[in-house]
Amino acid sequence: MTSKVLYATLAVLITFSCSQEEKTESTTITKAWWKEEIVYQIYPRSFKDTNGDGIGDLKGIIEELNYIQSLGVTAVWLNPIYSSPNADNGYDVSDYRGIMNEFGTMEDFDLMLAGIHKRGIKLIMDVVVNHSSDEHPWFQQSRSSRDNPYRDYYHWWPAEKGKPNYRYSLFDEQGDAWQYDSLTNSYYLHYFAAKQPDLKWENPKVRQEVYDIMRFWADKGVDGFRLDAFQFVAKDTTYPKFPDGFEKDFIQYYAMQPGIHDYLREMNTEVFSKYKVMSVAEGAGRNFEDAHDLVDEVRKELNMAYAFEGVDIAKPEGYDLVHFKKVFTKWDSAFAHDGWLSIFLANHDQARLVSRFGNDSPEFRDHSAKMLNTFILSMRGTPYCYYGDELGMTNIGFERIEQYQDIAAINGYKKMLNEGGDVEKYTRDLKFSSRDNGRTPMQWDETLNAGFTSATPWLPANPNHVTLNVKQQQEDPNSVLNHFRKLTALRKAEPVLVYGAYDIVQREHPTVYAYTRTLEDRKVLVLLNFSVSESKIDLPQITIGKFWINNYDDLRREGDTILLQPYQAVIVEVD
Ligand code: NOJ
Repeated sequence: MTSKVLYATLAVLITFSCSQEEKTESTTITKAWWKEEIVYQIYPRSFKDTNGDGIGDLKGIIEELNYIQSLGVTAVWLNPIYSSPNADNGYDVSDYRGIMNEFGTMEDFDLMLAGIHKRGIKLIMDVVVNHSSDEHPWFQQSRSSRDNPYRDYYHWWPAEKGKPNYRYSLFDEQGDAWQYDSLTNSYYLHYFAAKQPDLKWENPKVRQEVYDIMRFWADKGVDGFRLDAFQFVAKDTTYPKFPDGFEKDFIQYYAMQPGIHDYLREMNTEVFSKYKVMSVAEGAGRNFEDAHDLVDEVRKELNMAYAFEGVDIAKPEGYDLVHFKKVFTKWDSAFAHDGWLSIFLANHDQARLVSRFGNDSPEFRDHSAKMLNTFILSMRGTPYCYYGDELGMTNIGFERIEQYQDIAAINGYKKMLNEGGDVEKYTRDLKFSSRDNGRTPMQWDETLNAGFTSATPWLPANPNHVTLNVKQQQEDPNSVLNHFRKLTALRKAEPVLVYGAYDIVQREHPTVYAYTRTLEDRKVLVLLNFSVSESKIDLPQITIGKFWINNYDDLRREGDTILLQPYQAVIVEVD
């Protein structure tokens, strides 16, 4: 705890001299322990099953703590492990103080936490409080009668007033966020599935319940909270009409509504400030201003947020690297002086990193996975690395809707059918972008079900586990896994990779992403070839020094021109 406080009060003066294209500036960045973390995200359902039910569990995580430590990561973010009927794999909580049966018991949790801490790693818990499960006792009470004391824990609309104004639901088969409930002849609101009714944050009792829950976990010693869908919690409870077609841009109407900053400041006072835990919100609002307001230190709300613009760039038809660079550069510049963001290209809501942003063919998979990991671990912002990406795990690519487990995919398909849309295109797109691609079992070894389970796994293991797995990569010094370990070691040893100023080099280069990171007298150049072909980049004013990491044996040069091989990624000291 003391070091956390100490960190928060230290400030470092960073003077950075930029690339040919940028001006010299100076700024101050406050140091903080959570800026220096490397987060490893575990989807517990898919990590390791120890009791033979085909579903990952906490004991499975305990078994693999040495592996997690060997990655060099410093924090683990667990997707929800609370009791849940699993309409949305734990994002529908029925008891915020209980452990999901499939995952184990509170004893397992305590053991897991102790094992994580023993290894010097922190634990970040997912807090899902935009909504609960419809099986949560609060909702059971709330729906039972209009005058129940819990009625106002949720958003209700009496049907005698007619149908409420349309609200779009992300997971509903009809796309309708109002669900009629005959028990009290009323509609309730659910931005996600009907089994995920939205909690009414305008009710102070709800907020106190949530802070209490968070304190329960903080008292157990967890080190941080990730707030699920938090940008949506505040709502105008008169439920005004939104313009026709608003759902195409629903973030503008749903995110960051009046009240949200008060709730966050209250949460900060009630929880964060008391425990010095780290806080990160999913979503960064509608624009930079929103994002800043969430994380500016003086406002005392959150430590960091994560914005989706970067991760959303990949499309089935490909993406434009110049656009990709522009997006990451603009987010970096917006937070160069105050505030802090996370940096990531994958999570449990995305398909696999290497399939979306790299190249998952056997020929290029390893090089492109190493290149993408180099990007994430050399950018400014707290890196979030998703389980399996340290191996270069790829999309499974289901062909038929029956193969999916994800409610978003299944209900999206039904909605498409209901609307008479192009279901074939929908299924084709899902094959590339579905969340289930990113949720297949961790590939531990070449045996049946990738060593994840002895039973039938809840989602099949990717057949490529026969050649792409931990066991095989442990033994290969050139594996994606061992490259990942080198990167985490570098990031921990070299503050320039955390705090250094970021300056893009040749922003219009179509295939190479090049940037420098500078901190005091330390300057490194990161060169990333995002192309399947060799790429050339002229760097006349740069003197190359010591190599920090390279995913090929050498770096080819002809005079001032550097020739990067397919998906080559290099970090090198420069003058
Ligand atoms: C965002 C989570 O990341 C996602 O997995 C979930 O389905 C929704 N929020 C609803 O909780």
